[in-house]
Amino acid sequence: MCGIVGAVAERDVSRILLEGLRRLEYRGYDSAGMAILDQECVIRRQRAAGKVERLESALEETPLTGRLGIAHTRWATHGKPTDNNAHPHVARDAVAIVHNGIIENYAALRSRLQADGYSFSSETDTEVVVNLIHHNMGQGGELFEAVRTSLTELEGAYAFGVICSAEPDRLIAARRGSPLVIGVGIGEHFIASDVSALLPVTQEFIFLEEGDIALITRDAVIIHDARGKVVERPVKRSQLSATAADKGSYRHYMLKEIYEQPRVLAETLEGRLSRDRVLPEVFGPDAGAVFDQVQRIQIVACGTSNHAGMIARYWFESLAGLPCDVEVASEYRYRPHVVSPGTLFVTISQSGETADSLAALREVKSQAKHLATLAICNVAESSLVRESDLVLMTRAGPEIGVASTKAFTTQLAALLLLVIALGRRHAMTADTEARLVEGLHALPALIDRVLQMDADIAKLSEAFADKHHSLFLGRGPLYPVAMEGALKLKEISYIHAEAYPAGELKHGPLALVDAEMPVVAVAPNDELMEKLKSNLQEVQARGGQLFVFADERTTFEDSPGLRLVSVPAVDDALAAVVYTVPLQLLAYHVALLKGTDVDKPRNLAKSVTVE
Ligand code: G6P
Repeated sequence: MCGIVGAVAERDVSRILLEGLRRLEYRGYDSAGMAILDQECVIRRQRAAGKVERLESALEETPLTGRLGIAHTRWATHGKPTDNNAHPHVARDAVAIVHNGIIENYAALRSRLQADGYSFSSETDTEVVVNLIHHNMGQGGELFEAVRTSLTELEGAYAFGVICSAEPDRLIAARRGSPLVIGVGIGEHFIASDVSALLPVTQEFIFLEEGDIALITRDAVIIHDARGKVVERPVKRSQLSATAADKGSYRHYMLKEIYEQPRVLAETLEGRLSRDRVLPEVFGPDAGAVFDQVQRIQIVACGTSNHAGMIARYWFESLAGLPCDVEVASEYRYRPHVVSPGTLFVTISQSGETADSLAALREVKSQAKHLATLAICNVAESSLVRESDLVLMTRAGPEIGVASTKAFTTQLAALLLLVIALGRRHAMTADTEARLVEGLHALPALIDRVLQMDADIAKLSEAFADKHHSLFLGRGPLYPVAMEGALKLKEISYIHAEAYPAGELKHGPLALVDAEMPVVAVAPNDELMEKLKSNLQEVQARGGQLFVFADERTTFEDSPGLRLVSVPAVDDALAAVVYTVPLQLLAYHVALLKGTDVDKPRNLAKSVTVE
């Protein structure tokens, strides 16, 4: 999704802005641009549809230099990804803006501004805002006041960076609905939509809150809150290092992140388990009193995080004896609900900035019908974390590949901690807890063994690369694993992939099965195994090519039309985590063969901060 970087410094900022844009590339975008105020106080701008490299080439030909600037990666919403629609947008050579989010009343504002003589060269909502600011500056007005007035007229979500040719030392930043941070340097300040953009220049950050607007100079930051009051926001030190987001020797971030899973799973569990128990203080000092009252779980999330929630539902009901509902946030937020007493509202999110998940949380908080809110999240400074009552951090580290991998498996580990912490207050016995904790201790090493399947899976991927469709089957908690496997494949290889609970096969998808439709089944050695076997025979009988990922102890055998992939034996409860990994590798290798942009698949964004 769109990315913002900005800087006011004593040195030339163009390199800093360009590096910032590179570091935001992972969010997904389709054009990029930069505007800098030069020594003559003229706003100079370069924009390019496509990758940041194209902008870089344009800058090599016509460099921009100056000590105040803003830059942007745009993910098209209003208008196509063209040079003209790329940010920054400029009003009458005087004001320049970069914007994340969507302005809902832009059409009405545009007509009004046109009537006042403003012309537009793009199809974007953003150009409306910059003209509005220019209009509100009038003759000789101040930029900060003009931005502040303009914000009162906007409906929708935004994060902005604004500069003006008449004020060469000032950068204005504002946020409502989209994240924005201020990076604090020595005699210089920066803004960005994500701390990772600024890690090469600072590790000190101020996180703007909803409705904040900031006047930023080299030496000072003055923040006004939504009510116009001057407020102090704390400066926080980020734990992320500038190199955490590097690819190292891996060909793609996604592969690196798949291989990081043993380590980040160990980190997610570290300090949270004794030999046979989940430590009670894991969820913070206030959690115990809340957990004692929990009678039901409502999970809300999007995309891959939603799949983690679907798996957890099986765990909550079968291991903890707690009723659990799961719903995608984009549906949940717009639906009236019946909330049972004692319902814990759980959001799951890698980024903590997904617009629908955040909106669902805010809706729930405003209704105050739930017992409490809990976020499982990977970004400590995110809005979701800051706005939830209780938090459990996954410790996956920065995830750059758009297709989520290590964030997902660490979410599962974190969810299992929650299942245990609540389960022991309900149906879970100490023996079950000890068995699960033993399994969790062994998990990182087990995932290491699964990664050794990489070369075999690479061979298997050849059978998929020329196909257009595929089916993924699973049962019980392995059904959402099949869904996640299908999602990975479609996201990065663009092969149509659908997941079904294996028992539903004969109620429709079987009609699609032929030699051109590979069918993947995840089949651990659990009680549903025999039933799954008969489902699979239905596929074989129709000439379908089956790929069965099964427990190494299984009695399945390779046969014509059936390729067996042995997966290390694992406790049923942890099978969902283990079986996810070979499916990640499968998607990766198929995408490699197809030559797609693995880390930045077309049309997708890492963090969907607009609706
Ligand atoms: C986007 C990403 C997915 C992610 C989903 C939810 O669609 O491409 O990988 O699963 O958003 O994101 P979140 O940050 O809330 O987990």
